[in-house]
Amino acid sequence: MLKIFSRRTGKSSGKKRGAIFQTVDVGSGIGEWTSKQAERFPSRTYVAVDPLYSLGKGAPFIRKMIKRLSKKGVKVEPRTLEDFLKTMIKRKQKARNFNIDMPTHPFELYNFEFLFENISRVLFPNGKIFVKSEMHTKLRKLRELAKRYSLRVSAIKSLPRIPVESLRTGAMKLIAEDSIQSPEKKTYQIYSLVITYGLKKARKDFDNQR
Ligand SMILES: C[S@@+](CC[C@H](N)C(=O)[O-])C[C@H]1O[C@@H](n2cnc3c(N)ncnc32)[C@H](O)[C@@H]1O
Repeated sequence: MLKIFSRRTGKSSGKKRGAIFQTVDVGSGIGEWTSKQAERFPSRTYVAVDPLYSLGKGAPFIRKMIKRLSKKGVKVEPRTLEDFLKTMIKRKQKARNFNIDMPTHPFELYNFEFLFENISRVLFPNGKIFVKSEMHTKLRKLRELAKRYSLRVSAIKSLPRIPVESLRTGAMKLIAEDSIQSPEKKTYQIYSLVITYGLKKARKDFDNQR
């Protein structure tokens, strides 16, 4: 019982602070990917972060969404990325990965700079940040920003064309359906970028800054 409670709250049973998260899903929305992962790997802690969840009290749809995620053992955080990072730092929590699917409206509000500045406090060495977006230019800028923080970056890749129903999140499906339906936009394109916190390089850089 205590174990289940620990996994859901992200806290270890013995200590009040400190935890290891498998993946922090940022801007998780409905959270279909996170809940599938939590179901597949019940011993891992997944966190769904989205300011949308703070509307839960007044919106039955969102309340249901939170309930569904919590039932699967996902830790729900009604915050922005920046606010959640501050909480992680305060509680000494770290993640193996961050997952950021379709960060739109507006991209800049996510404050990736704050994430990169604090990367050694919130991500384990060789931890990864997976970003997917339809906005190639924004991903290119993000890639440049990550490089400035001495993080390892992949090339920006197009997702292979797969059937709409196999796309993993609601936002991806919406974009795909929209571009298929409009005659002038016959194709849809979603791009992927992977940023890795390679300890050696990043630590050297951060030591220099301190
Ligand atoms: C386009 S939806 C993507 C939802 C889901 N990841 C998907 O792919 O279906 C973007 C989500 O990011 C959330 N969001 C907006 N600003 C955010 C921020 N600063 N930090 C975290 N999430 C944010 C929104 O509330 C929204 O649910």
